[in-house]
Amino acid sequence: MSSEAESENVYELVGGEQWFQDLCTRFYMKVAEDENLRKLYPSDLEPSRYWLAMFLVQYWGGPAQYSDTRGHPRLRMRHMHLEVGIKERDLWFRHMRASLLEANLEVDLEKKMLDYFQMAADHLINSD
Ligand code: HEM
Repeated sequence: MSSEAESENVYELVGGEQWFQDLCTRFYMKVAEDENLRKLYPSDLEPSRYWLAMFLVQYWGGPAQYSDTRGHPRLRMRHMHLEVGIKERDLWFRHMRASLLEANLEVDLEKKMLDYFQMAADHLINSD
């Protein structure tokens, strides 16, 4: 990993909140087209899209509007009413990976974010 990607605030490196909003817009367009994932989500995808973006803003060093509004993230708890198995994890990660690659980030930064998404998605598995 380059020293840049290690020492700098990722939120600032990618250019702030709009970058995360755009990432999540691309991601949710893929969710909307994927019947296996789409059926897990509420009919209106916009709140999920928006709060995923604001969660990521906070996680990567931006303002803490997510926690100020929604409380502690507790992502496992927030996904417990869903069946997240290997299949759902793989679909989620595939769409997030593709959405992230479309941003053409510098390779070390891209790897850092991909590693995080892989780890976070693994952590949310709650069913066989
Ligand atoms: C592993 C596969 C995953 C699946 C199948 C999944 C599915 C979902 C669904 C269906 C919702 C909407 C829940 C509802 O409103 O009832 C949701 C919300 C959300 N997901 Fe995931 N998710 C996954 C992974 C992740 C990961 C890895 C993250 C974070 C890196 C994440 C962050 C969020 C956030 C922040 C919300 C909105 C929570 C809120 O309303 O405050 N999810 N997810």
